[in-house]
Amino acid sequence: MPETITFEDLKIEADRVYEAFEQEFKRFECFAVDRFYAESLPNLIRQVKSEHYSLAEVRNQLSDLAGLKTKYTGKKSEWAAAKKQIGKIADGPERSFAGQHLLRLEVSMIDRLEKARMSLEQIIDALRIERETIDVTVPGRRPRTGHLHPITLMRQRIEDIFVSLGYAVEDDREIETDFYNFDALNIPEGHPARDAQDTFYTTDGFALRSQTSTVQIHAMQRRGAPVRMIAPGRVFRRDTPDPTHNPMFFQVEGLCVDRGITMAHLKGTLAEFVHRLFGPETKTRFRPSYFPFTEPSAEVDYSCFNCGGGGCRICKWCGWIELGGSGMVHPNVLRAANVDAEEFTGFAFGLGIDRTCARIYELDDIRLLFENDVRFLEQFR
Ligand code: FA5
Repeated sequence: MPETITFEDLKIEADRVYEAFEQEFKRFECFAVDRFYAESLPNLIRQVKSEHYSLAEVRNQLSDLAGLKTKYTGKKSEWAAAKKQIGKIADGPERSFAGQHLLRLEVSMIDRLEKARMSLEQIIDALRIERETIDVTVPGRRPRTGHLHPITLMRQRIEDIFVSLGYAVEDDREIETDFYNFDALNIPEGHPARDAQDTFYTTDGFALRSQTSTVQIHAMQRRGAPVRMIAPGRVFRRDTPDPTHNPMFFQVEGLCVDRGITMAHLKGTLAEFVHRLFGPETKTRFRPSYFPFTEPSAEVDYSCFNCGGGGCRICKWCGWIELGGSGMVHPNVLRAANVDAEEFTGFAFGLGIDRTCARIYELDDIRLLFENDVRFLEQFR
């Protein structure tokens, strides 16, 4: 005996499935707008944009909607199973009511699913067009421009002065042999001056230069005599960092070799240099000193650019600021660079750029120059 059911049984089952569909469709209800009302879709698109939905979010909604359609109207859905039950109702008006009832509910489901699908597709198109549109009137993002480091600014000021005095600017290597860093500069092995300028050694006989004086030798070997050059650059020493020391710092070397060069030329040149750097009233002072590669040797000071020599915070209340070391090139150095020491004489000097830079910009601590704090560095444009 085939199983029979009543219209009432099937209606209960069909209404239950439809109810479940309605529950799940609630999240798509707002998209099921009627496309015959011209304003409804543009309004919806505006609303979605104002709520900042992303393209990916709307695409996900569309795929969820497709899943819902399969679940409720697909071949293996509960709805399809319910439809098959119609045939089990006894032939007559009840079966016809059942057919009409289920058809009405199915049309409603398909209609709403279809409206939501079309709206979501149009929203996706609108969002995609918006994303791909370039608004040429929107101002571009201005790149943050960099600027020169205070040490570079200081180095350029020094270079400008010496170039205007007829000096060439030499750039040379930072990794050196013992010959250039010590021997050729009249500092033979075992000389106590090697300790004072202890540096960083590599395993294969090279070392980081401890002073730019190495360029004196390279320049004379390259150019011969006469020669007039400055050599700014980085040097390295085994110094413990403190407010006036760094293990890496900058010097500028100066060398002038010609016939008849005397200490007077050295004094005149450095006096002119400080006049141009700090102002014409700046005085210089030479204190006797010792460097193995110059004879005689002198430390050079200049009168404080801030107080003029009266004493202030910048010059630590002594009126004078140290510029660097200097002297007449030792004949052994000329000979090491194949320059005739009988014919030529010369002077040389070596100035510390970091400390001069710190004085000019009133920094209490030269370590600030290499801490790379942009807020600090930005002040020196
Ligand atoms: C020399 O290095 C000699 N080569 C200078 C020289 C050249 C003399 C030519 C004669 C002829 P000194 O060791 O004093 O000299 O260093 C020169 C300058 O480098 C100092 O005045 C100082 O400004 C700077 N300086 C030295 N050590 C450090 C350090 N650890 N940190 C920062 N600056 C330093």
